[in-house]
Amino acid sequence: MVKKYAPINEKFPHFYHGGDYNPDQWLKHPEIIDEDIRLMKLSNCNVMTIGIFAWTALEPEEGKFNFKWLDEIINKLYKNGIYVVLATPSGARPAWLSLKYPEVLRVNANRVKNLHGERHNHCYTSPIYREKVAILNRKLAERFANHPGVLLWHISNEFGGECHCELCQEAFRNWLKERYGTLEELNEAWWTGFWSHTYTDWSQIQSPAPQGDTTLHGLNLDWKRFVTYQTTDFIRQEVKPLKEVNPNLSVTTNLMEFYEGLDYWKLAKEIDIVSWDNYPEWHCDTDFVDLASYISMMHDFFRSLKSGKPFMLMESTPSMTNWQSLSKLKKPGMHLLSSLQAVAHGSDTVQYFQWRKSRGASEKFHGAVVDHCGHENTRVFKEVTEVGDILTKLDEIIGTTVVAETAIILDTENRWAVKDAKGPRNCGVNYEELVKSQYKAFWKKGIPVDVIDMQCDFSKYKLLVAPMLYMVKTGVAERIEEFVKKGGTFVATYWSGIVDENDLCFLGGFPGPLRKVLGIWAEEIDSLYDGETNGVVLQTNNELSLAGSYEAIELCDLIHAETAEVLGVYKKDFYADRPALTVNKFGKGKAYYIATRLSDDFNDAFYGALINEINVNRAVDIELPLGVTAQMRTDGENKYIFIMNFNDTDKTISLGSESYSNVVSGKKMEGKIILKPFGAIVLKHRL
Ligand code: GLA
Ligand code: ZN
Repeated sequence: MVKKYAPINEKFPHFYHGGDYNPDQWLKHPEIIDEDIRLMKLSNCNVMTIGIFAWTALEPEEGKFNFKWLDEIINKLYKNGIYVVLATPSGARPAWLSLKYPEVLRVNANRVKNLHGERHNHCYTSPIYREKVAILNRKLAERFANHPGVLLWHISNEFGGECHCELCQEAFRNWLKERYGTLEELNEAWWTGFWSHTYTDWSQIQSPAPQGDTTLHGLNLDWKRFVTYQTTDFIRQEVKPLKEVNPNLSVTTNLMEFYEGLDYWKLAKEIDIVSWDNYPEWHCDTDFVDLASYISMMHDFFRSLKSGKPFMLMESTPSMTNWQSLSKLKKPGMHLLSSLQAVAHGSDTVQYFQWRKSRGASEKFHGAVVDHCGHENTRVFKEVTEVGDILTKLDEIIGTTVVAETAIILDTENRWAVKDAKGPRNCGVNYEELVKSQYKAFWKKGIPVDVIDMQCDFSKYKLLVAPMLYMVKTGVAERIEEFVKKGGTFVATYWSGIVDENDLCFLGGFPGPLRKVLGIWAEEIDSLYDGETNGVVLQTNNELSLAGSYEAIELCDLIHAETAEVLGVYKKDFYADRPALTVNKFGKGKAYYIATRLSDDFNDAFYGALINEINVNRAVDIELPLGVTAQMRTDGENKYIFIMNFNDTDKTISLGSESYSNVVSGKKMEGKIILKPFGAIVLKHRL
């Protein structure tokens, strides 16, 4: 039974609409702060995130704290009905801290130590940094954690990067000792006999460096794991004093789009609510589908990190960014559409970077609700106001979630390993592109998808897609077998089942532990140059009723069908007529193998056939024109359907014989509806 999740904080059970607010930059301009409050109310903004980079304003000298301004702001906002997400300011530190305690400065992979400056660049091992953060966090908590206007903690800002200082090297070695116990075990796992890399003492181990080691994949992989471990440990230290003061105030930290440096699956365990910062380059291309479906995939990924619990859109721009190669404006309608897209996938907030443009420094031209002109008579302000207005009408959707019967595996450690490998295609195995292209086929059909990692529970799905599952960790193949045996449908692609979790190749034939369930043996893999193609020809009368041929690019696995049946074969080259698409009946289910990178039209046809066969749930049972998707949230009784048009032209949708209610207007909807360019509609239907 689907449950409705509790709101982020019971004190304010509504959609959060607001953004990063830096009153600390305007303390000498009290009139601006009063004006901000007037404008917040006018724009239907209700929650501001405060204090993200306010460390120097809060602790101008070591041990001398100044909370007065923050008291005043939080109280003033609260009196005006505006709530606060309160940040800990560890994302950027005061100069006095760097100068007095240089150990807090990060050391880069090339072993050059940073000077003071920028942000997001502390050593996450440094005991002094940890201590200073803990002191400030405790004081913040003591003062504000029980304030009626404070809804949530925002821990630091966009954790990322790595530090290679001596403290971190030592911590890395200790982490390795924990993991392997003995050097012999480590040498075996990293296959250090290669190029005489065998370690004879723990002290010889150094993190990867451009002028040192980069080719020992086990080392690279474990270093990345360690960076996640240490960053997560840092977060744990940040959270501790906050929870000691008020265990009931939830914490989040804002995560980044498709960020590769951290394994978010591990980090997510330390926070109560997932939030992320979303900056798509809308209108950068005439292909609306690619970008829109990719952003949907990101939303699904962040929701899946907490098994479906609603997440937060923590940052988005109301107009443009200033750091992309070109600062494009969101065209009329896109702001509402992209905000509703987040909500459709499970976000209970629409928050911005930033409320007001800073007057100076590097983000002075980044989009904001309030521009330098300082008033409300702007296009952007009006669009933000409209979003706020619509969000207030969607209250009943708070806490509902997406229920998917389809899952795609996007595994961070697999991503690290498959991209670190030398060969078979150093110009790009395009793991991410492959995942995106599989996802896109479901997006076009309005099929809810969870984006999970290989450690997640597979049993709740009917269809499990594992693009390029190069690394297969212990126990995963067994769980996939179990899934298929019980009737599940599993889809794997080329370059799967190659290494174990230590990045050591499986012996005895690829795809290693997946060989049995897939019923194939992958003997060799051929790489195609960019622009070079092969093709797959479907066998006549194949069981999916697919026909014709489809273009193949990038990588071609040369496989033998063992227990599998062949559905398609290669078109040319010396492996023409050899299997390229297979299905293996296994227990009550089926396991498909796609041996090469196939075009979007294949994915549309192939997944279309699978979906019909196994009947996975769709948001709504209607035809969707290209560039229009449907997504849905549910509370178990009602279905909230978001139909979104990412095209810059009108699109007509036929709702068929069903009738729905429009959640925003309350009107009954049936028959044909026209979605404007970048238009969206939210419908309700009883399940
Ligand atoms: C990130 C940061 C913000 C701001 C925005 C600009 O998401 O968290 O502080 O720099 O980028 O887009
Ligand atoms: Zn360090």
